[in-house]
Amino acid sequence: MALKKAKVTLSDLHGIAVTLGPGLSGSLLVGLSFAKSLSLALNIPLIEVNHMQGHILAHFIKEGTEGIKGTEGIEGAEETKGIEGTLEKRETKSHTSPEFPFLCLTVSGGHTQIIKITSHLQFELLAETEDDAVGEAFDKAAKILGLPYPGGPLIDKYAKLGNPKAYSFPMPQLKNNNYSFSGVKTSFLYFIQAQTKLNPHFISECMHDICASYQAHLIKYLLKNLIQVSNETSIKHIAIAGGVSANSELRKQLNVIGKIYKWNTYIPKFEYCTDNAAMIAITGYYKYLDNQFCGLDVTPKPRYHI
Ligand code: KG4
Ligand code: ZN
Repeated sequence: MALKKAKVTLSDLHGIAVTLGPGLSGSLLVGLSFAKSLSLALNIPLIEVNHMQGHILAHFIKEGTEGIKGTEGIEGAEETKGIEGTLEKRETKSHTSPEFPFLCLTVSGGHTQIIKITSHLQFELLAETEDDAVGEAFDKAAKILGLPYPGGPLIDKYAKLGNPKAYSFPMPQLKNNNYSFSGVKTSFLYFIQAQTKLNPHFISECMHDICASYQAHLIKYLLKNLIQVSNETSIKHIAIAGGVSANSELRKQLNVIGKIYKWNTYIPKFEYCTDNAAMIAITGYYKYLDNQFCGLDVTPKPRYHI
């Protein structure tokens, strides 16, 4: 299906990029086994990818109508130039990629990190959550409200109709610009329990205000620490990535704050925010150019750190 869409065949491929982690070992193992077989059968190198690096490098995905045809072979400078050349051609149709060094607020269902990126393959973790990820804070609150999984997109939708100042929640202040979302999530649970005792229809009657206030709180917290890290590092190229970067209010607020602090902000295309194969492929591309291949004996890394 993907090959058909890209108008290429298996013989056009130069390498197989695969997620090694972080993630659930079962899913990682299935993907890795398939990738190993394909790499062996096609006699092309295997490239292991860190899922979170993939989210960040989604900013470098180039879209275009040209395929990568005419770039046969995987050895030698000419062929490599061929791939690069094709990608350069595609650049005309893409959104602007971040300039190095840049900071990326990487927000997903399993991670909340602020990372400094100095090249396509150099990442430095500057801050992270010490417990739950912000995606979990969205999803667990949604569950408390009786919404289906994943609740993040629904909170986003209902928040558009509510008052973001209706209710307030605590904002834990940790050292090193780290985050903590477990206390926020618990305070949300206690708040809902207390309000429901007073009015059994509280959730249904105030759903929009609840979603708007909780979402605004999470975003304020995310951006507060991001501002601090930007000030400390003097880096003003600021990106967001990961599933939660699909959140419409986070996207809006990043631009609002960006104007105040004179940042150059980079927001991924909506379809490249949540998990996708293209982000793994683009990371594989940069590792391929750097000859970063792996053996067929690699095993999944469920806790793969960036
Ligand atoms: O990156 P991702 O697709 O998978 C992981 O690597 O975890 O992120 C999934 C997370 C979920 O927690 C989901 O609720 C959240 O991204 N998410 C959103 C939105 N779209 C996805 N959270 C808030 N607002 C959204 N619009
Ligand atoms: Zn993800």
